[in-house]
Amino acid sequence: MEPAFLGIDIGTSGVKALLVSHDGSVLASAGAEYPLRSPHPLWAEQDPRDWWDAVRKALRTLDGMRSVSLRRVSAVGLTGQMHGLVALDVRGEPVRPCILWNDQRTFRECARITEAVGADRILRITGKPVLPNFTAPKLLWLRVNEPDAYARTAHVLLPKDYIRYRLTGAMHGDVSDASGTSLLDVGTRRWSDEMIAALEIPYPWLPELYESPQVTAAVSPEAARETGLREGIPVVAGAGDQAAEAVGAGVVAPGDVSLALGTSGVVFAALPSYRYDAAGRIHTYCHAVPGGWHVMGVMLSAGGSLRWYRDTFGDTEKSAASARGADAYDILTAEAAEAPPGCDGLLFLPYLSGERTPHADPSARGVFFGFTLRHRKAHFTRAVLEGVGFGLRDALGLVRSLGLRVDSVRATGGGIRSAVWRRILADILGVDILTVNTAHGAAFGAALLAGTGAGFFASVEEAVARTVLVTGRETAGEASLFYERLYERYSALYPALRGEFTHMREFLEREAGKGGEGEGE
Ligand code: XUL
Repeated sequence: MEPAFLGIDIGTSGVKALLVSHDGSVLASAGAEYPLRSPHPLWAEQDPRDWWDAVRKALRTLDGMRSVSLRRVSAVGLTGQMHGLVALDVRGEPVRPCILWNDQRTFRECARITEAVGADRILRITGKPVLPNFTAPKLLWLRVNEPDAYARTAHVLLPKDYIRYRLTGAMHGDVSDASGTSLLDVGTRRWSDEMIAALEIPYPWLPELYESPQVTAAVSPEAARETGLREGIPVVAGAGDQAAEAVGAGVVAPGDVSLALGTSGVVFAALPSYRYDAAGRIHTYCHAVPGGWHVMGVMLSAGGSLRWYRDTFGDTEKSAASARGADAYDILTAEAAEAPPGCDGLLFLPYLSGERTPHADPSARGVFFGFTLRHRKAHFTRAVLEGVGFGLRDALGLVRSLGLRVDSVRATGGGIRSAVWRRILADILGVDILTVNTAHGAAFGAALLAGTGAGFFASVEEAVARTVLVTGRETAGEASLFYERLYERYSALYPALRGEFTHMREFLEREAGKGGEGEGE
């Protein structure tokens, strides 16, 4: 039997298990969902045991498919949502639900860490500022707010590493995912003694770290019984979802850049050496390629802005879509093409969930700026597509400011299916937008890492060269120069409004009688 590799992605809404053949073709995929709980404003939690139940369910589904057998799997690669705090007791049981990457409760802890270690020092060591999304501030929150759970903690893992623990019994991590904890010295790829000492976190709590394609452990007899996988097959370290997705898109060599246009918009660039933005606007991580690094700019509402727009203003398009058996997004983006580039002065700021890159500002809000009696719906739709493009242009500008030359980006994610949006992005970003044959996200990259760890590919680069192909190219056109000038107008809006965003948040908090969020302090 030809070897096949299994990629497992522990996503925010569910797990995805992807069986990939040695030539890169996808043999089968299965998923299972789990709930996300928000017991208080700003909180986002999941029960790690739900992830494991979902993994077992997805693997049973895969195994039950005709012509698929999990006996064929030669190696497993793990990936998943990053930054989440999985705290386990001495017996390996979660002491509380996982605090997820999109949980915002820890902004006070971030300020405390920044004060204790110093903003410049943190940037130099961890490649980015400490943000509420990251793991370390969640641990400090636990110490102060749930001392009993903290006292029972004996191990700290990231989400995908909890699944490794259930699959193999080993508590291990990888350097790409660990880069999102604020505890890793990203330049040396080791846990940072300085950060750990400053935050007074017991060193033995942290897992041993590996490079992403390294085999760290094997499927245990018990997990083999529970999942249908063969006992003893290797499980590689794997990677955080962004690094794994980049591998799956073929972004592995210095200078390669990808753009993932999902709910969020991620601009990801492989670096030739460790470097970081001294202003902390774009963030440096270890790549899933051994000895490699990458920077990443995360825009929180990219495809999410268009989904909000469709759900709020797209009823006509939704009805037309269901009548014609078409997609409401296709109808909306076709309408957008009727408005001219620049929408006659209508601009959209895509900060619907606050923002991370380039303005780390949870108070920022969405804005439509500059409409007049002339403006029609098509202008508003196009303005959303363009506003997301300008937000991504911000991130790309920061990549260039680190000395990287960018001529093309490999685009993935649901938003990229729209030809209109691809055209707008090519013009606004001023680069070629490439599409690739591998639109399976992080699970695909994890499967390539598994194939590399199993020795089937000599390196991650070879895995990519043998499986990922460029299938399309949208070249920047005439509108590029116009957009370059309009970008100056777009860029002026956030600084002009920053103070007002904060005032509005404070106003709303006062009106709601809260006078400041944050739990239990
Ligand atoms: C990366 C990030 C998200 C999460 C969830 O920094 O916050 O990609 O990993 O997908």
